[in-house]
Amino acid sequence: MKRYGEWSSRLAFILAATGSAVGLGNIWKFPYMTGEYGGGAFVIVYLLCVALMGLPVMMAEVMLGKRGRNSPVNSMRILAQEAGYSQLWRILGWSGVIAGFLILSYYSVVAGWALAYIPEVAKGTFTAVNMMPQNEIAGFVGSIFNGLVENPIRLLAWHSAFIVVTMIMVAGGVQGGLERAVRFMMPALFIVLLILLGYAMSTPEFMKGIHFMFDIDFKSFLYPNCTEKSCEWSGDGLLAAMGQAFFSLSLGMGSIMVYGAYLPKHASIAQTTAAVVAADTLVAILAGLIIFPIVFSNGLQPGAGVGLVFKTLPIAFGQMPFGSLFGTLFFVLLALAAWSSAISLIEPAVAWLVETGKFTRFSASVLSGLMVWLVGILSVFSFNLWSDVKPLSMFSTFENKTFFDLIDYLTANIMLPLGGIFMAIFVAWLMKKQIVIDELETTSDNIGYRIWHFLLRYVTPIGVGLVFLNAIGVFS
Ligand code: PHE
Repeated sequence: MKRYGEWSSRLAFILAATGSAVGLGNIWKFPYMTGEYGGGAFVIVYLLCVALMGLPVMMAEVMLGKRGRNSPVNSMRILAQEAGYSQLWRILGWSGVIAGFLILSYYSVVAGWALAYIPEVAKGTFTAVNMMPQNEIAGFVGSIFNGLVENPIRLLAWHSAFIVVTMIMVAGGVQGGLERAVRFMMPALFIVLLILLGYAMSTPEFMKGIHFMFDIDFKSFLYPNCTEKSCEWSGDGLLAAMGQAFFSLSLGMGSIMVYGAYLPKHASIAQTTAAVVAADTLVAILAGLIIFPIVFSNGLQPGAGVGLVFKTLPIAFGQMPFGSLFGTLFFVLLALAAWSSAISLIEPAVAWLVETGKFTRFSASVLSGLMVWLVGILSVFSFNLWSDVKPLSMFSTFENKTFFDLIDYLTANIMLPLGGIFMAIFVAWLMKKQIVIDELETTSDNIGYRIWHFLLRYVTPIGVGLVFLNAIGVFS
């Protein structure tokens, strides 16, 4: 039985991996986190993490998949066996499956917001801003967002819709819908973002937005809680920036590994990976360049939190020419980008279920979809019925975090970087060097290879380790 698809070409893999990487992480999460952590310093740490950890780990993860040719659980088992190490390495695959479930459970809720905004923008709700005094615009647009998230039934409906469509796509298999959709979607998304950038440049506070994103102020990044008398050191910003690098690049949980497993035998990993990382980074930076000028031009707070994108972009769609048209297109594309990421979040689980021999692709998709949907209800209620439920508030790290916040924190800040460390260690310390070199189709004296190996061997594990220790206060 042929269980796996194979990408029809290297380009198809690039498209799919970009589809996985580019999503809500770039357009929704990156701007609001940059806002919460004060701007430039967060951005620069993020970019450093992408270059020094993200890029090398992505190459390693693709390589693991390409060599293992199975779901992450079984790939890790096979590769550990080949290298002569314990089969417990498949736990790495397992933790990826769990992380994928958890991420998708809340990812789907946010994607539901994007879905809900499609009809909202299309029917012209936001054109009302043109008739308002400037100082009422932000309040009005914010109230539309709050009205949505405070309504559990509406949220649940959109969350359900998103999951159902995801499962239909996943059941369709590797080459089915996925490859085709991403091919036109990525360029279209890019064009709409450029148009929005044009609008942002026309706002009065464009330069203030640019300064916010690129002026580096490490002092307030590392000492966010300053009073007159003392300043308190915090490792939260560093951890958040690193977690965001892993999250945005889809690393550390097997998504990229399972896509690597569908690579044709001879495909260059280094260039492919660099293209994906470049595209992902570009979209995130673009999103920031669009959103912050709107924030400052309308008297909004950059640290407004998870609703930031939904409270800013509609102002642009209300005001610019053909705004309802572009706005509708934008949210459609955002939803598609979220779908192409969602598919990759669940693929490790579905691939593994199929490998057990007890499931078809269809039944595996239905089962995983159902589970994700159920867990997602926790996040749906985090914004309304249970907005006061802060389950782990007794620990200071988790203070004031709803289920939604907790799941996000646990996966992005802990599980993904941890998965990244173990992948780095496995590839750079445990796998036979010759196998690695063969899979990368390089030679041991190639300078690029040597830099990569060094980053993976030392920089990634030590870097992630230090950020973790810093976050739990070891250095303060
Ligand atoms: N990278 C995706 C995004 O930025 C989210 C994702 C994380 C996808 C982990 C797969 C794995 O939206």
